[in-house]
Amino acid sequence: MEKKKINIKILSFLKEKKEQIFNKESNYISAKESAKISRKNRKITNQIEKQRKRRNIPENEYITQMKNAENVVEFDNVHTYFFTDIGTVKAVDGVTFDVPYGKTVGVVGESGCGKSVTSLSLIQLVQRPQGQTVEGEIRFNSGEKVYNVVKTPERIMQTLRGNDITMIFQEPMTTLNPVFRIGAQVEEVLLLHNKDMTKEQAKEKTIALLELVGIANSERVYRNFPHELSGGMRQRVVIAMALACDPKLIIADEPTTALDVTIQAQILGLLSDIKGKINSSIMLITHDLGVIAEMADYVVVMYAGRVIEKGTAKEIFKNPAHPYTVGLMRSKPVVGRKVERLYNIPGNVPNPINMPNYCYFKDRCEKCIEACNGDYPPEFQLSETHFVSCYLYDPQLKEGESK
Ligand SMILES: Nc1ncnc2c1ncn2[C@@H]1O[C@H](COP(=O)(O)OP(=O)(O)OP(=O)(O)O)[C@@H](O)[C@H]1O
Ligand SMILES: [Mg+2]
Repeated sequence: MEKKKINIKILSFLKEKKEQIFNKESNYISAKESAKISRKNRKITNQIEKQRKRRNIPENEYITQMKNAENVVEFDNVHTYFFTDIGTVKAVDGVTFDVPYGKTVGVVGESGCGKSVTSLSLIQLVQRPQGQTVEGEIRFNSGEKVYNVVKTPERIMQTLRGNDITMIFQEPMTTLNPVFRIGAQVEEVLLLHNKDMTKEQAKEKTIALLELVGIANSERVYRNFPHELSGGMRQRVVIAMALACDPKLIIADEPTTALDVTIQAQILGLLSDIKGKINSSIMLITHDLGVIAEMADYVVVMYAGRVIEKGTAKEIFKNPAHPYTVGLMRSKPVVGRKVERLYNIPGNVPNPINMPNYCYFKDRCEKCIEACNGDYPPEFQLSETHFVSCYLYDPQLKEGESK
């Protein structure tokens, strides 16, 4: 009797699972469909790769002009997609923002919203061939020339990376090689990018760089292996490597997430100190609003592959406009503000494959109005520097409209 009951339970469980798998609403696709998508993808990516791998690409294809001479980087309607076997992931879907000279731009948003893919698109290190920037321009001013990095040949990108743009990653051990001494690793960067430098000069500069990033016993650290250093020290070494060639732009992708709060404060202080010394700009990626508040001059808020709000740090923190930004602000603890419970934004980020064609935040938004059922909202300007993609700020909208 008992056995029969269990059998019935198993059968109904299997039936339920089968229904889930074959339900059109679920994300299941058959092997046949997947093969078809994969063939289609290969056609698209092969064509792009062929275009990129041409020899002697003429300069006029990738040399361009900045829209505003005060910017070091201009992202202009950038679309970076991943052509996967289950569909196209629109990781970055029409991103536009600038990084001005000598300023820090904070890019914030929840996990998976496309922050890292945006920065990887700038240095053209998106996982190829699946990942491709299929539309838009990313203009980078190296001082001598302005490159549209999307079209720039790999040979030139290699000199831009390291020389002009450097990247600091979250986990220093992904950058450092565990089997080489710290000194050798920093020197390698110096020698690679300065062909005339002698070994002695490289050593001298390495020691100076280690001191610049606040390592007191630089001579000893020079001879250490990465595992002999603490997390904070390793991140300092990575910053020293990033600075080895006086970059115009430092991309810091969650540089302090792996560190505890006091070391985090030291590293952030170090970054802003150094920015002043070498006169470069920083693109700081994080999901920590506290870090952004401390460091950034401008803030870009991303959601599901798009910029939903951007402005100066003061504008974003004092007058957040988009319901998502407001939600983010309410979900962080503030000294001196008493709350029963911190706010949490309901729901999840939509599936990046098959995004809806209305506002991506609509299904989680508590302030929806009639207009939100329409197309994805355009950008509305609130001040000279403050922009938001939300119908609540449509000047043509009649007041009092509700869902
Ligand atoms: N190689 C890849 N293949 C397929 N999809 C990818 C790949 N890399 C990233 N994605 C997808 O692109 C989207 C954006 O990813 P990204 O790494 O930029 O997020 P993020 O904002 O940096 O998140 P986090 O805060 O967790 O670092 C995600 O949906 C992710 O799944
Ligand atoms: Mg990331």
